[in-house]
Amino acid sequence: MNAAGCAILGIETSCDETAAAVVVDGVDIRSNCIHSQIALHERYRGVVPEVASRSHMNRIVPIITAALEEAGMTPRDLSAVAVTARPGMIGSLLVGLSAAKALAFGFELPLIGIDHVAAHVHAAFMSAPQTPLPLLSLVASGGHTALYLVRRVGHAERIGTTIDDAAGEALDKGAALLGLPYPGGPAIERCARDGDRNAVELPRSMLGKDSLDFSFSGLKTALLYHLRGPGLTRELPQLDDRARADLAASLEEAVVDALVRKLRRAVEQYPEVRSLAIGGGVARNLRLRERLASDRRIGALAQVFPPMALCSDNGAMIAGLGHHRFVVEGQCDDLRLDARATTRKVV
Ligand code: KG4
Ligand code: ZN
Repeated sequence: MNAAGCAILGIETSCDETAAAVVVDGVDIRSNCIHSQIALHERYRGVVPEVASRSHMNRIVPIITAALEEAGMTPRDLSAVAVTARPGMIGSLLVGLSAAKALAFGFELPLIGIDHVAAHVHAAFMSAPQTPLPLLSLVASGGHTALYLVRRVGHAERIGTTIDDAAGEALDKGAALLGLPYPGGPAIERCARDGDRNAVELPRSMLGKDSLDFSFSGLKTALLYHLRGPGLTRELPQLDDRARADLAASLEEAVVDALVRKLRRAVEQYPEVRSLAIGGGVARNLRLRERLASDRRIGALAQVFPPMALCSDNGAMIAGLGHHRFVVEGQCDDLRLDARATTRKVV
């Protein structure tokens, strides 16, 4: 650590973003560089693991160089390197992990392995460090949808998770049925602006009476059956702009409504909760933010909606949690750190 503060390089390659950022003292984001692979994956309407790994390999050195340059630093100015080690696609994780290990070894820097989902949760404390605890956090993306209870910064316990599709996945698959581009979330949000949210009734799966788990897989089936009609013909109908907007708005509302209802249930079950945060790509959704802010029970909590750039995958949240692990908790890993596909219940 030098007089300019504790500068941590955060590296993220768990899915389809190659990202690197420099964060000083856990909150001061000096750079946050992201290369999105959307253009490579959109023709497949989803992330293709091998394509993702190869792209990460081409982009990882330029993105780290860009993050250091934008921060006006060299590796010698860093105090540590933090990197996503889990969960994610193994091939993709290994690219970021190998780069981080090379930097740590070459420049004798401490290496900190980070759980990607924990970093989404931690983004709230980067944008609002004084967030009152306990915090209820919703992480909703293309790969994850889970609720976390945070009683202590840096320690999140999962209290609910999806039993099938993630919320973002439901939007991505629904968008494909409606002939909208990938990724579906932003496309649905744009299209829904001109639609009627109540045009089509789609299911909100609540599971058991007390369950805090999510289920979104029935939504795409309901949408598919709605589109094909009772005859179950194989062809999907041509939609005009009006019908497409109504369906997009109804789908967006069904996903948002399911998320809001589960958050309400969580607040009832954990009345000690004092704040709410959202993270992950779906947290960029404006209808979700609006519904949460206007909800009588949830709206009474201190709400943290991190800036858009901290919601979807990024390196700054990795560096931010890395700072907490390294400086506040005194933890770091060694070069045996390995990539893992799955996350844990407590992160
Ligand atoms: O966190 P993220 O960038 O990557 C994953 O870890 O998956 O999340 C990507 C997901 C995609 O499913 C995408 O459709 C969704 O987040 N998404 C949105 C919005 N922007 C991205 N969903 C709803 N509204 C948005 N504005
Ligand atoms: Zn993510």
